[in-house]
Amino acid sequence: MMRTKLVAGNWKMNGSRAQTDSLLRDLRAALDGSPPCEVLVCPGFPYLQQAGELLAGSGIRLGAQNLAVEDAGAFTGEVSGPMLADLGCEYVLVGHSERRSLFGEDSDTVAKKYVAAQRGGLKPVLCVGESLEEREAGTTERVIGEQLRAVLELAGVDSLASAVIAYEPVWAIGTGRTASPEQAQAVHAFVRGLVAENNGIIADSVRVLYGGSVKSSNAGDLFSMPDVDGGLVGGASLDAQDFAGICRAGGH
Ligand code: PGA
Repeated sequence: MMRTKLVAGNWKMNGSRAQTDSLLRDLRAALDGSPPCEVLVCPGFPYLQQAGELLAGSGIRLGAQNLAVEDAGAFTGEVSGPMLADLGCEYVLVGHSERRSLFGEDSDTVAKKYVAAQRGGLKPVLCVGESLEEREAGTTERVIGEQLRAVLELAGVDSLASAVIAYEPVWAIGTGRTASPEQAQAVHAFVRGLVAENNGIIADSVRVLYGGSVKSSNAGDLFSMPDVDGGLVGGASLDAQDFAGICRAGGH
């Protein structure tokens, strides 16, 4: 099965109106009017509307980095799936390791957010990944299995038909230390195998992105692995040229 690669930029808590403007103009120019694979950018909430306007007609998709479990109501400071869809978002990251480790999101909350995203008409990008201690203790598969099963139990395997999985080893995020293509491939194959235990057709079609210090210089090798279907990119997504290079690697 040919899976179209997806390259997603996670801006995290970076940017300003001026940077959003220049980054997206430069990205459009660098991609020369047509994205070489599916391309997604996830700016901070305050810049979603502006980003949507700048991306109009570009084919580049818009996503958010987080959403609330609930759709509306007395939840001060939260942003819901329906609000994001209203702003033109197609995707939303769910369970990024920074949400899990810094903001106390456990697998149960992450699963509820995944369901909330789909209820709001958004495609969740479900992030999973092990810490360095967990990898060194040999528990990578157990940790990722638990993170994935929490979602499969609540949402069912069929939900993955309109979702994306991102494998992001915590030790590779923002550290400059990328998983080797072989290390990534091993976990991606494990993830796909877990999905296949529930539904082989969905397992074949679901995209599994790699995240953690992806750059234009390493994206080609990572993306050439059979179960790596693109990347979730933090730091390098703030540089239009570097990010465009990663997108081009996704087009081969
Ligand atoms: P990085 O971040 O590319 O800066 O390592 C990836 C991520 O956290 O999604």
